[in-house]
Amino acid sequence: MLFEKIEEALPDPIFGLNQKFVQDTRKNKVYLSAGIYMDGQGNAPMLHTVKKAQRIWVEEDTKASYLAIDGDRNYVEKLGRLVFGDRLWDTSKDRIYGSQSVGGTSALRIAGDFLKAFITDHIFIPAPTWANHIPIFEASQLDVKRYVYYGQNRSLAFEKILGELKKGKAGEVFLFHGSCHNPTGADLSQGQWQEILETVQKTRILPFFDLAYQGLGDGVEEDAYAVRLFADSGIEMIVTTTASKTFGLYHHRVGGLYILSKDKNACMKISSQIKKLIRSNYSNPPAHGAQVVARILGSNDLREEWEGELKKIRERLQNMRNELVDRLYQESGLDWGYLKERKGMFAFCDFTKEQVRRLLEEYGIYMTENGRVNVAGLNESNLDYVVDAISEVVR
Ligand SMILES: Cc1ncc(COP(=O)(O)O)c(C=O)c1O
Repeated sequence: MLFEKIEEALPDPIFGLNQKFVQDTRKNKVYLSAGIYMDGQGNAPMLHTVKKAQRIWVEEDTKASYLAIDGDRNYVEKLGRLVFGDRLWDTSKDRIYGSQSVGGTSALRIAGDFLKAFITDHIFIPAPTWANHIPIFEASQLDVKRYVYYGQNRSLAFEKILGELKKGKAGEVFLFHGSCHNPTGADLSQGQWQEILETVQKTRILPFFDLAYQGLGDGVEEDAYAVRLFADSGIEMIVTTTASKTFGLYHHRVGGLYILSKDKNACMKISSQIKKLIRSNYSNPPAHGAQVVARILGSNDLREEWEGELKKIRERLQNMRNELVDRLYQESGLDWGYLKERKGMFAFCDFTKEQVRRLLEEYGIYMTENGRVNVAGLNESNLDYVVDAISEVVR
C-alpha cells in the first residue's frame, strides 16, 4: 500500500487543457491554448524543408550508436551559428560551450541544475512568463523570484525591469525572453536592450536568454538581436533555444544550451559539468531532430527554402493578429490596437479570469488562464465565431 498515500497532482496548465479540448464534444470548439503553429486549416503542418531533410537523412543514416552525452557537434555548431550569427560564432567559439538538448525544456532544466550547483540558489524570471519556467527552475531547487515585466496599462514595464536589475547583485541570474515574449509578445526595443546591457555590465548580473521563437517575430537575424548584442560585449551569459517552433519539430524534442564564459579553459570545465548533469538525467539526446536541423542549416538551398517557410508562418501570425483586432473593433468597438505591435505567436488579451472561463465553458474557446491567445489557432472558419464570443463576454 505504498502508493495509496500519493495525492493527485494538478494538471499542467497548458497540456491539461489539451486533454480537456480533445474530450470536448462541441463541434465549434476552438483551440487557442498551446504554443503550436497551426495553418489555415487548423493543422500543425510539417515543414517541406523538414520533409526533404528527413528523406536525405534516412538515406544517409547508417549509424545506430548513441550520440555523445551533449549531442552532435555538427548540429551544435549549426544551431550556434543560427543563434549567434557567423561572425560572432567565428570570433567567439572558443568561449562558447554548446550542448544539444531535448527541446527547450531540457536546456532550461540542465541550465537550472548547473546554476544551482555552481552559481546561485535563486533566479529572477519575468512576471508574466511561460508557465513552465516556474516548475522547471523549482525542480532544479532554485528559489524562483519574479520581476515585473508587464504593466497594468497593457505595456512593457521598462522602468520597473530596469529598477529591478539595478538592485541586482553580482552573480544573480535574470532570465529574459530573447524575442517574442511569452505570453505578452511585448519585446524590448533595441535601445532598451542597450540600457539593460549597460546595467547588467555594471551590476555583473548573469543574463540568461530563453530564445524559443527565433524567426517568428521579425526574422531570424532580427529576433537574435538581444542575444547577439550581449554576446558581442564579451560578458558571461546563458542561452537556451529550441527547434520546436522554428522548425516545427515539436515532437522530435530538439534544442540547445549555450554557455558563454571567458575562455576555452572555462568552457572545458563547464562542458565536463554539463555532461555530468545530462548523463544522470537522460544520458544522451535523440538523433533524429538534430540531424534534420543540421541538414537544413547546412545546405544553402534548404536554408533558403526554410527561411521562406518561416516568413510565411510569421506573416500568417501577424495577419491573424491584425484580423482579430480589426474585427473586434468593427464588431464591438473594442480597441485592442496595441496588440498589433506584438511579436510572435500570442495575443495577450485583456481578459479577466471570469471571461476566460466563460469563453471556455459557454463557447468552447480554449486559451490559457491568463488570457493568452495563440493567434495561429485562428482561421477563416473560426474567426467570426471567436470575435462574436469575445464581444459577448467583454460586453
Ligand atoms: C518561452 C518558452 N521557452 C521554452 C519553451 C520550451 O520549448 P520546448 O517545447 O522545445 O521544450 C517554450 C515552449 O512553449 C516557450 O514558450
